[in-house]
Order: sequence, then C-alpha cells, then structure tokens
Amino acid sequence: MTDCLGDGAGDMTPMDLYEKLTSQGDTVRTLKTEKAAKADIEAAVQLLLKLKVDYKQVTGQDYKTGCPPSECAVSQDNGPAAAADGEDMVDPWNVSTTNAKGVDYDKLIVRFGSSKIDQELVDRIERVSGQKAHRFLRRGIFFSHRDMHQVLDAYEKNKSFYLYTGRGPSSEALHVGHLIPFIFTKWLQDTFDIPLVIQLTDDEKYLWKDLSLEDCHRYTVENAKDIIACGFDINKTFIFSDLDYMGASPDFYRNVVKVQKHVTFNQVKGIFGFGDSDCIGKIAFPAIQAAPSFSNSFPQIFKGRKNVQCLIPCAIDQDPYFRMTRDVAPRIGYPKPALLHSTFFPALQGAQTKMSASDANSSIFLTDTPKQIKNKVNKHAFSGGKDTVEEHRKYGGNPDVDVSFMYLTFFLEDDEQLEKIRQDYASGALLTGELKKRLIETLQPMITSHQERRKQVTEETVKQFMTPRPLDFNF
Ligand code: TRP
Repeated sequence: MTDCLGDGAGDMTPMDLYEKLTSQGDTVRTLKTEKAAKADIEAAVQLLLKLKVDYKQVTGQDYKTGCPPSECAVSQDNGPAAAADGEDMVDPWNVSTTNAKGVDYDKLIVRFGSSKIDQELVDRIERVSGQKAHRFLRRGIFFSHRDMHQVLDAYEKNKSFYLYTGRGPSSEALHVGHLIPFIFTKWLQDTFDIPLVIQLTDDEKYLWKDLSLEDCHRYTVENAKDIIACGFDINKTFIFSDLDYMGASPDFYRNVVKVQKHVTFNQVKGIFGFGDSDCIGKIAFPAIQAAPSFSNSFPQIFKGRKNVQCLIPCAIDQDPYFRMTRDVAPRIGYPKPALLHSTFFPALQGAQTKMSASDANSSIFLTDTPKQIKNKVNKHAFSGGKDTVEEHRKYGGNPDVDVSFMYLTFFLEDDEQLEKIRQDYASGALLTGELKKRLIETLQPMITSHQERRKQVTEETVKQFMTPRPLDFNF
C-alpha cells in the first residue's frame, strides 16, 4: 500500500505495526501503574487505539497481545479485506484464492449480486446480433452481467448503446491478460456497430503507485498503442487520458462533481476500504471512473444527449466502481450502465492469482520473443500432469488446474480442437510437453502479429484516437 502522505500506517509493515502496538501497550500499562497524569494516560490510550485501527486496516486482523500478524492475511493494498475466512479475495487491488482451479466465480456472482451469463443469454446475443458468440462468451470467460437483457431489449427496438472500458497504465509492459477486455470489446464494437470510449486512468496510477505524473502519462501513450493494435476502428473509438481530458472537457468534469456530491466518505469506505491515512485523491477517484458511464460526458460524440445507454465490459474486480456508479445514476438523472464481467487471466504459476505485470515470470508479455514465450511456458506454466510419463499415461492429467490448458481456452478459437485436447489430456493420451507445445504454437503467432500491428501505430495515430471529436454515428 502506498500512501500519498508519508506518515500513515501505509509505510509500516505489519510486523512494524505489531511491535509499535506492543510497546505502546506497555507504555499505557506503565503510565497507569505509575499513576501518571490523567491527560498523559488519555493521550497514550488514544495513540494505542489509533494503532489498533491501522493494524486492522493493514493486516485485516484484530491485534492480539502475543500473536504476531500471520503472513497470509496481509492485505497488499488498501482494498477491503472483505473476504471472510476461506473466501476468495477479489477487489480492484487484490485477487487471490486457495483453490487451484481459481476463484469460485459462481459464489462471486452471489456475493456481488450480479447475474450469471447463462446459455439463454448467450443464445439471445447470437440471435440479436446475428453473429456466432465470441469464444469468451461460449466458454464462460465473460461469465457475469448486469442488465444485459435490458440492453438487448432496447437494441431490438433500434435503440443504440455505447461501450466504455479502460485501463490503468501502471507500466509500459502489457501482458496477454491485459488484452482480454480489449479483444472482447473489439468484438462487441464490430458486432453491434457502436461507439466506444476507452479511459486511461493515469491519474489513478499516480495516486496509487510510486510513479511520477510524467511516467503515468507516458505509459498512457504507450499503452494506447497496444490497445489500438487490437484493431479498433478510429472512426468509432475515442481513447482518453484522465490527466488530459478532465481539464479539457467541462461536461466530463461536471459529471465527476455530480457523482462526488452524491457519494459519502462512508460509502466509499464501505465499497473500497479506504482508511484515514489514504490520500484524498484516492477517495475522490471513483467518481472519475464513474463519469464515462454517462453519455453527456462526451458531447462531441453524443451531441449532449444524456440518456444513451452505456455497456461496460471489464474484469470482475472493477465491479465495485460500477456498483457505486449504478447506485448514483438514478439520483443524478442518468441511466445505470450495464456490465459484462470477465474472469481473471491466471498467472503462469497457477489460477490462485491473476497475471501480474510486476512479476516477469508470472506473465507472458506482449513484447516477449517467440523464444521467451517457449521458455516461460515450458519452465513456469503450472501443470496438471502426473510426475512420470507412466503415471500420466495410466491416470491422465487434470486440465482443470493446468495453466496451459486454461490459456488455450482463452486463445484457441476452434471448439472441437479444444475439447479434443481436454479429453486427450484427461485420459493421458496427451502429455504435458505436448500440451505446452500446442499453447506455444498458439501464443507465438498471436503475439508476433500483435507486435507487427503495434509497429504500424504512430504517435500521430495515437493523437488522432485521443483527440475529442465526433465519431461516425448520428446521435
Ligand atoms: N481502474 C481500471 C484499472 O486499474 C481502469 C479503468 C477505468 C477501467 N475505467 C474502466 C477498466 C472501465 C474497465 C472498465 O485497470
């Protein structure tokens, strides 16, 4: 957890805090036995209480004398350590589970109060769009939604909608997991022929990470190139940096302020787990991620219309922002945005956590060479295979925990081939090395062609995408 001000609990490790608490407890006891002045005792007790609050915030545990903090419960950041014992942890800053198959997404639907993308909805999307559903829908990678039926009802009555997605540019290096929402968003844009806005939250990354404003803005431009390389239509897509657009668009800022007025500190504390030592920028930020959900934040595209329906494809960890947005929307006279949620892209080491850009060995980067891809998959991809070939042939492997197989479900287009690989791996006919080879052969050309497309994206192209302008739609 990085603190904006350098004096909060955020700078201390759980162990530091534990030690400070223990010694403060001793101080209080000594003052009491020595019958010190009442005011002195009071002050020491106040500090003790504050430390206890900080301790709980940092570790997610209550302080107990003689019980040092246990490593596993340490919350890396300041998201609410919402998960009770044994539950998966999912918020905008943390994803973890103890289950090798990954997060239990059905439970998450219940906890978050969203709806499952069931076969009926997938069929309906096919019917309404006249297109075969994207493999992410067919395979439950986009698994949860809010109000998607309403979007389709309206679309059938010729009422259009627009797409909103985003990315926090925290480094230059994107990994394949970062592409998931963008690959799917491109499919939605092509399928429904609708406008798209993409928010790059360089302000968010400046507030949360130890990065300069210049770095964050530079990452915005570099990340925009990778996003553009996914193939978005320049006539239908507006990409913006918060650091630029907030100051340039009075209508956008007005919506930010409206949201800020209608959400209390108590509410964001409950949703995001902010504490007293978080800088005020973080506390105000959720309103900035909410604002693009309202069409009049983009008058150049929607001609000032405030009631164009918004659909947000995103990973499920972003849902807290949009629960807040949907709660506020009717109170400020706007439609609630609809949502499509994806699962996480697992780390090479296993589905207990998602891929992380800060751990080179957990990720396949978009800049990796074919050789690096091969080595990483062979060396680091967690295998559901057995220890020896003999055992594997006899008992078969477990595709449910095998990371190479999971990656193939994201990227191998052919359903029949995928099913055959699954069966052959489970029966033992297909060995781990052969499965990994299939994945390597799928990833290498995919990443090479991404790199080729990215090379074509010039600074000038980025500038065009990021210039506020009308798009090819009549609203
Ligand atoms: N907060 C997101 C991140 O850190 C970025 C983001 C902004 C976003 N707006 C969004 C993601 C809308 C999905 C949808 O990556």
